[in-house]
Amino acid sequence: MNQPATIVKTLPDAQTVTSVQHWTDRLFSFRVTRPQSLRFRSGEFVMIGLQDERGKPLLRAYSIASPNWDEELEFYSIKVPDGPLTSRLQHIQPGDQIILRPKPVGTLVLDALLPGKRLWFLATGTGLAPFASLMRDPETYERYDQVIMMHTCRETAELEYGRQLVEGLQNDPLIGEMVEGKLFYYPTTTREPSDRMGRITDNLTSGKVFADLGIPPMNTAEDRAMVCGSLQFNVDVKAVLEGFGLREGANSEPLEYVVEKAFVGDGI
Ligand code: FAD
Ligand code: A2P
Repeated sequence: MNQPATIVKTLPDAQTVTSVQHWTDRLFSFRVTRPQSLRFRSGEFVMIGLQDERGKPLLRAYSIASPNWDEELEFYSIKVPDGPLTSRLQHIQPGDQIILRPKPVGTLVLDALLPGKRLWFLATGTGLAPFASLMRDPETYERYDQVIMMHTCRETAELEYGRQLVEGLQNDPLIGEMVEGKLFYYPTTTREPSDRMGRITDNLTSGKVFADLGIPPMNTAEDRAMVCGSLQFNVDVKAVLEGFGLREGANSEPLEYVVEKAFVGDGI
């Protein structure tokens, strides 16, 4: 006799984890199935999470790290040891389910900027995630002649997800041609010696990054920027960008730069 089919109890808005990769004891990335109806603009974020002990959804904002053409969704995550979500999320395995609310939003989208020559992605830590999406979107390279990815972390190991992603793009048979000569990757560390060092703010104000890459200093006619990091990083970078004459834009009023928090810090 046939056994009755096993009923799998699914979460509301459930998606299935397809792969997980741990980068350091504080960082991991994972991929999940993509809801068929989900359309998003590269750079946007969604709410994802797990059920808490009482069966209620425990959700947090997460930038989608995969580009909008990808059939799966990728996320790049911190592991906060006592974080309500990530203390548990860090243990997910392929086959597990997570909750994903399919309502993408965010300011780090190409439409929020005026046309320009160069596009700067400025990120610390997991603030790389929205740019992991935008760097893999052909539209980024259709709109800009040069794309500069500045990513800063304390230690080299924390740069590895981004490094492998850029390397993969450059070696990709299809996208490689599109990014060749256009994508400039400028990773730096601040607390471990490496080839390139220093805070993004310092490397912009000193002019070091312009000299290293052989490009002119930022100016309002040619340069556009997107910023994603801690609150203090965002505040400090904004001041630097304003110093070059760039103005903050939004979806409703495209200008020269846009900003989004990579996380909400303690007490904010
Ligand atoms: P929480 O209670 O949410 O956070 C505890 C503390 O941990 C915070 O007060 C803060 O000090 C620290 N913290 C939280 N997130 C981070 C982080 N990413 N990096 C460093 N310190 C952090 N997180 C990601 O890992 N990847 C993303 O792509 C991402 N995108 C976000 C997009 C937006 C618009 C916002 C507002 C936040 C985003 N976050 C992202 C942060 C995320 O929403 C959660 O805060 C994070 O997953 C930790 O959840 P938690 O419940 O474990 O701890
Ligand atoms: P630093 O090591 O000099 O503090 P954190 O882990 O504290 O979020 O920092 C991640 C990276 O961002 C580190 O390399 C850190 O440099 C850098 N950073 C932190 N705050 C700022 C800021 N206000 N301006 C520029 N860079 C910052």
